[in-house]
Amino acid sequence: MKKNVILGIDVGATGIKGGLVDVTTGKMVTERFRFDTPSPATPEAMAATVKKLVDHIGYKGPVGVGFPAIVRRGIAASAANIDNSWVNTDITKVFGKATGLPFVALNDADAAGIATMAFGTGKQYANDGVVLMVTIGTGLGGALFVNGELMPNLEIGQVFLKNQKIVAEKFISNRVRKDTDMSWSEFGKRFSKFLKHVDSIFNPDLIVLGGGASKSFDEYKRFLKTNAEVKPAILQNTAGTVGAAVYAASKKPKVK
Ligand code: BGC
Repeated sequence: MKKNVILGIDVGATGIKGGLVDVTTGKMVTERFRFDTPSPATPEAMAATVKKLVDHIGYKGPVGVGFPAIVRRGIAASAANIDNSWVNTDITKVFGKATGLPFVALNDADAAGIATMAFGTGKQYANDGVVLMVTIGTGLGGALFVNGELMPNLEIGQVFLKNQKIVAEKFISNRVRKDTDMSWSEFGKRFSKFLKHVDSIFNPDLIVLGGGASKSFDEYKRFLKTNAEVKPAILQNTAGTVGAAVYAASKKPKVK
């Protein structure tokens, strides 16, 4: 296996996706393979799925994993859309034990943001400016970059919207859209309420949208009324996988 080719995994509430990434170019060198996230999404069940993915690719080497929770030094500190037993669990240990490979873990939106800043839509502000990445999937993920520096674990989906009396990701997300059969225009109007709110707090130069709903950006962009420019991530759904691999390359993990 070439040194610059690293396995990136994007753990989501519905799918565990991964593939080999050339970390110098940010390009996937295999397709992105996907396995359903087991339910309940316990550490043991998810570790078995991660092993299946690793075996399927036939990979040996360091692995980067983007995880849908607050992640500090490899340990999950929240569980909004996964099984509660993840809280205080060392993600790198659980996946490392199952596969025999060295893992690093970070928040999934942070991983998507890292790829966006290095190779994608955020590049122009990599040295000067503020970029807010918002991923729209089962939950809402956030990553904030100031002059290219990541402020990790920005839980933007947990922001309380006082007019709606609910946290942001329960008000609007790709899951809320699908569960309620929402039209794209209604999605756009709701999403704009959320986006205007966070725009007025963080005042970024650019807001980049990633995750499942970013693919349909053209359907709802006309409803987004923010001061900051809003763009879809050019890496779209692969950003999380690419960013996780790039992060692993920078950390050189060891087997725990
Ligand atoms: C979690 C975040 C995560 C986001 C996107 C939210 O429910 O709290 O940590 O980044 O979903 O998966």
